[in-house]
Amino acid sequence: MSSIGFGIIGCGGISNVHLTALSKRDDARVVCVADVNPEAAKAQAERYQVAKWVTDPAELVAMPEVQAVVVCTPTFRHAEGVLAAAAAGKHVLCEKPISLSLEEADQMIAACEKAGSLFMVAFVRRFCNEWLKLRDIIREGRLGRPVVWRTANASSGPASPWFLDAEKGGGPFIDGCVHDWDFARFTFGEPEKVVASISRMKETTTALDTGTAIVKFKSGDEIVRTWSWGLPGTACSGQSMQDVIGPKGALRFPGAPAEGSKLNYFYYIDGDGKEHPIEYEHTGGQEWFDAQMDHFVTCVREGRRPCVTGEDGRNATELALAVLKAGASRETVHL
Ligand SMILES: NC(=O)c1ccc[n+]([C@@H]2O[C@H](COP(=O)([O-])OP(=O)(O)OC[C@H]3O[C@@H](n4cnc5c(N)ncnc54)[C@H](O)[C@@H]3O)[C@@H](O)[C@H]2O)c1
Repeated sequence: MSSIGFGIIGCGGISNVHLTALSKRDDARVVCVADVNPEAAKAQAERYQVAKWVTDPAELVAMPEVQAVVVCTPTFRHAEGVLAAAAAGKHVLCEKPISLSLEEADQMIAACEKAGSLFMVAFVRRFCNEWLKLRDIIREGRLGRPVVWRTANASSGPASPWFLDAEKGGGPFIDGCVHDWDFARFTFGEPEKVVASISRMKETTTALDTGTAIVKFKSGDEIVRTWSWGLPGTACSGQSMQDVIGPKGALRFPGAPAEGSKLNYFYYIDGDGKEHPIEYEHTGGQEWFDAQMDHFVTCVREGRRPCVTGEDGRNATELALAVLKAGASRETVHL
């Protein structure tokens, strides 16, 4: 089997999971990595034994042996990477969120369509057993419907400052939460309206970094999402929580599986307070990215449309923008 040549644009934190996933495959190889920072490009080329590294992504996309490109740049740079790859006729896997604006998302989708390039957005939860099991439990009606999915996190935020720049990363309600917005849409269907209160806790950031959003879906289901990247320093974190409640019971999320075991459990709690384990096969962080890459490589090989598309990326950004608007204005935003 001939191997598919890959190029990676952006050699920061997330490039590691894609380079690791590709390094395990016989049917794909990384031809070149690119980063505007030469040290970052060189370091990843050495670490993953990639023969070529460049500082200009245009050189990477022009290489005939590169057939597919993974765009791992900061979010405000996604469009230029995707557009350059599409113009060169390459297939694209783009990190989430697709973009900070719908205009850019539309340009990327149109460019890939015009070029005949496959375009996938890296919503990795779509490839994770735990999240897929959660979706099944909800959709099978185990908790009744509609449900409320409650989820909260708080930390100092990511190390790279662009994540908390309003124009570059947009803060947690578009960056991290975009996973939730996509997964909630995937599970519940079309969103109907958003109420939110989101503000800025950290003085050094320009993005809104702390708050709560409630998104109501046409199905009646809701997600209540609290997130902060406003905690001090670089390593502070609050307690995370996650559950789903419905008219027939509550669902407790799994802890870590027992050592050496692949089996793990959600717990359904019924009206008598009895806990019922719901078993699934646990997969860890890198395994999700391996499964995501497996899907993308298969799509490229077979010329098949990926199961997560540019439109999914656009829809999640649309919801994130509605959340930010509701959060800043304190007014209900209808979708
Ligand atoms: N799927 C996930 O769970 C997940 C996790 C983390 C980050 N991400 C996403 O991945 C993307 C990158 O995040 P990261 O954590 O790797 O960021 P990072 O700051 O660690 O790395 C970004 C890299 O891109 C380089 N870069 C900047 N502009 C460039 C350009 N125009 N061309 C080439 N290289 C450029 C920087 O020099 C840096 O090395 C973001 O969109 C982020 O939201 C996704």
